[in-house]
Amino acid sequence: MPAEAIRDEGSGEHIWSRRELLSLAGWGAILTCFGAAGAAFVRFMFPRVLFEPPTKWKAGFPTDYTVNTVSSRWMKDYRCWIVRWPDGLFSILAVCTHLGCTPRWLAGEDKFKCPCHGSGYHMDGTNFEGPAPRPMEHIFIALADDGQLLCDKAITFRKELGQWGKPGSFLKFHG
Ligand code: FES
Repeated sequence: MPAEAIRDEGSGEHIWSRRELLSLAGWGAILTCFGAAGAAFVRFMFPRVLFEPPTKWKAGFPTDYTVNTVSSRWMKDYRCWIVRWPDGLFSILAVCTHLGCTPRWLAGEDKFKCPCHGSGYHMDGTNFEGPAPRPMEHIFIALADDGQLLCDKAITFRKELGQWGKPGSFLKFHG
């Protein structure tokens, strides 16, 4: 049997009984639970997705690169240098092998220098000073059908594992 509403004798206003207040709190808790479950469901249906930038790109034509220079053209977008040697091209992933900082190419000193703890690398990415334990990695480079360079930083080559001679680690010019 429903409890009769209690009213203030003077004003006739409804006075909340303890039971009514407890019931109200119970409904509040239930609605909060449903709300939280609903929010969790929506989040489940629309998860936060990380959009990674593509790892592959066309890097122009070999003739775009000057012999014996390091090009920083793709550093901002792909964090890679392209190095042009007289007989070919290769690309270095600009990640210091000490703790992952981004080294800089110092053309005047002919070396890469890491600003974090001072590791130095030769033009081919081989470490020679500072705490870096190994050379920087080369990434895949090849010629696409249209004659442009095709780079893919998802494929890397490590010198200390004997991978710098593998196909894709160096684009050699023939003839
Ligand atoms: Fe490059 Fe430490 S991260 S020297």
